[in-house]
Amino acid sequence: MTALAARLGLSVPLIQAPMAGVSTPALAAAVCEAGALGSIALGATDAAGGRAMIDAVRAATTRAFNVNLFVHADPVPDDAREAAWRKWLAPEFARFGAQPPATLRTIYRSFADDTAMLAMLVQARPAVVSFHFGLPSPAAIHALKATGALLMATATDVAEAQAIERAGVDVIVAQGIEAGGHRGMFDPGAPDEQLGTLALTRLLVRRCGVPVVAAGGIMDGSGIAAALALGAEAAQLGTAFIACPESAASAAYRAALAAAERTRMTALISGRPARCLVNRFTELAGAPDSPGYPIAYDAGKALHAAASARGEHGYGAHWAGQGARLARALPAATLVATLRDEVARAGLGQASPSSGAAFSK
Ligand SMILES: Cc1cc2nc3c(=O)[nH]c(=O)nc-3n(C[C@H](O)[C@H](O)[C@H](O)COP(=O)(O)O)c2cc1C
Repeated sequence: MTALAARLGLSVPLIQAPMAGVSTPALAAAVCEAGALGSIALGATDAAGGRAMIDAVRAATTRAFNVNLFVHADPVPDDAREAAWRKWLAPEFARFGAQPPATLRTIYRSFADDTAMLAMLVQARPAVVSFHFGLPSPAAIHALKATGALLMATATDVAEAQAIERAGVDVIVAQGIEAGGHRGMFDPGAPDEQLGTLALTRLLVRRCGVPVVAAGGIMDGSGIAAALALGAEAAQLGTAFIACPESAASAAYRAALAAAERTRMTALISGRPARCLVNRFTELAGAPDSPGYPIAYDAGKALHAAASARGEHGYGAHWAGQGARLARALPAATLVATLRDEVARAGLGQASPSSGAAFSK
């Protein structure tokens, strides 16, 4: 067993990825009860909503779980860009007898300036807290560490990983380009080397002094074993859990995943690069400059709602990784048990051969 798995009391070095809009307290609790680390995503809710989710997990399990936050830089509102974006999407809305929203809002508050969320977390004291899209202030990191929480943050390249380590975060989640959902890059406008999970994980294991978790395209025990062989302390799987009955994925999302043929990285739906099942939205052409995340997401969600109301589900944010075709529709406990067996069969579940990284608790 890896040191990280031992620290968290896991029987398999597996983290169910936090998935805003898809993961649920029931999914996280089922994963925890089965011996892996379950996660809830608070990126799309506020402090009260987050507290309710934490309480719901605790009502179902006493085990450690992960609470995940979006730490994005807010976009600068730009009326001209937003008008151009609405104009570009207007013909799509018109297909369903609708119009784009008159104004676009910043629908998600970043944890970077959400003092109510920080206060709630300090009070609720979840065992694990993770960050996506960036890092909170040193004061917030200090306050969370003072509760005894293990902190994790997503990196998509070496520079982000080094910033995470410098900030005193305990674990780096190495998210490869294969990953489903939003790319965790700190600055979506910066050049993206698009490193794959294999190269990124190995790079970070070699370059960083804290444990690394591999994420992106891992769908079964062979993939988890491969991540461990690279020196990762655990694997974080998202797409593999979307089809679990405990997830919040809609019937249309499940059907799209079951029929998955291709995925595509797109910023059209939310304003940030994210890997999605190819659908009508990912294939739209001629987009002007984006108003940015999460302002563009306000329009994207409205378009999906208008189309869905008329029975067209091809505009959904059907996030999925490159391994989508390997997804299994199993209850979470069965999936975790299956993954544990597969890791054991691959012969690498008991050791992390080349990590050597220590916790800086
Ligand atoms: C539907 C979906 C939603 C996601 N939402 C989040 C999120 O809220 N927070 C986060 O840190 N990562 C999120 N991710 C990314 C995962 O943490 C992880 O990097 C990714 O799922 C790994 O790749 P895989 O999907 O190929 O397993 C999401 C991924 C998916 C598929």
